[in-house]
Amino acid sequence: MKHDRFETLVAFCDAMEWAADTETVYQRIVDVSSEYFECDSAHLHLIDIDGKRFVRHASHDDTYPASKWNMPVTMNVGRMNSLMNAGELIVMDYERPHEEDVIPVKAIELGYKSAISIPLDSSSGVFGMLTIVYKRVLPWDDSDREFLLAIGRVLGMFLQRMQMSKKDVELQMLRERKQLSSEIHDNVSQMVSALAIRADIALSCLDDGDTDALESELESLGVQARQVTKILREEMLSLRMPIEGAGDVASDVESIAKRFEDQWGFEVRFTQEGVEGTMISEYARLQLVRIVNECLQNVLRHARATVVEMSLARRNGRVLISVRDNGIGFDVSRVAPERLGIRIMRERAASAGGSLSVVSGAQGTTVFIEMPIAKS
Ligand SMILES: Nc1ncnc2c1ncn2[C@@H]1O[C@H](COP(=O)(O)OP(=O)(O)O)[C@@H](O)[C@H]1O
Ligand SMILES: [Mg+2]
Repeated sequence: MKHDRFETLVAFCDAMEWAADTETVYQRIVDVSSEYFECDSAHLHLIDIDGKRFVRHASHDDTYPASKWNMPVTMNVGRMNSLMNAGELIVMDYERPHEEDVIPVKAIELGYKSAISIPLDSSSGVFGMLTIVYKRVLPWDDSDREFLLAIGRVLGMFLQRMQMSKKDVELQMLRERKQLSSEIHDNVSQMVSALAIRADIALSCLDDGDTDALESELESLGVQARQVTKILREEMLSLRMPIEGAGDVASDVESIAKRFEDQWGFEVRFTQEGVEGTMISEYARLQLVRIVNECLQNVLRHARATVVEMSLARRNGRVLISVRDNGIGFDVSRVAPERLGIRIMRERAASAGGSLSVVSGAQGTTVFIEMPIAKS
């Protein structure tokens, strides 16, 4: 082998570097396998969520006939049992196969001569395998086997952790849905009850026979009802903002600013300083979009401001976003406990590894948000 064990291990460690999606990591693992194990074909299979199938996630050179295989775990292809239950390597010599081996005829026709499947072992057992295939006699002897098993354990431990954090994200999504429904419910019910109060006042004007007052109440009711429709539309638009993968934070914030300006005829000043191309993770983007939107909704509903300034900067490996209005301000320490907006904004920032603070006074209100930058 061209590379010694230490170099090989280091290469696998590099392959496990953070990536926005897990498939990239799987691909790196088979690429490193191909280079450092000097094999002709490498495949990574993981057992799917319900434990029924081995699903292929990545291949280096997928001309190997079994590369498209997604096999049922229960089928016990070849010596799969010893890999799954005993965490053993499956070493195959195609010219002198083990009696239980199932070797694709096509593989032999294509000149493949040997293969090893390495179990990916974790604290909860084997959950996948890395298969390396050769067009020559296996270059590994018995003393190398321990090393291959060790690589399988390191990869297994890492991949298991990576899958767990993916599950965390799914749980977060559920939580996100709950938060959103309480935010929307909260905002809408407050606005609609204000409409109901207006309607009550209009009715009492009618009782009093005060048609002037009635007219002005009905006018206000109309204005307010239109406002509610607009706010709802704004909420829906912000929910539909397409977010996929890590993304450029400046363009996200700028597009919210633009939308808000178009929709409300507000002046929104947008400035940035050294943030071009700064990426934040998909999760952080989702949170940030919701936070910035809530800031603007607050300006709209509470601030009586004429100008909003949004600025972005980069400091100590983090991105700072501030949303400032020139409105009436409020006492931050005396927000009623049943108001959820600011509280949820804080939770959102913290859940993405960031933070949020609000400063308010007679000159207006500023919300400062800080988010971690994604490693590229
Ligand atoms: N930009 C702002 N300008 C003035 N007051 C604000 C601003 N943002 C928030 N507030 C005040 O803080 C309170 C709490 O805000 P929030 O937690 O978002 O709840 P909600 O918007 O549902 O009332 C608001 O009711 C309002 O009194
Ligand atoms: Mg609010």
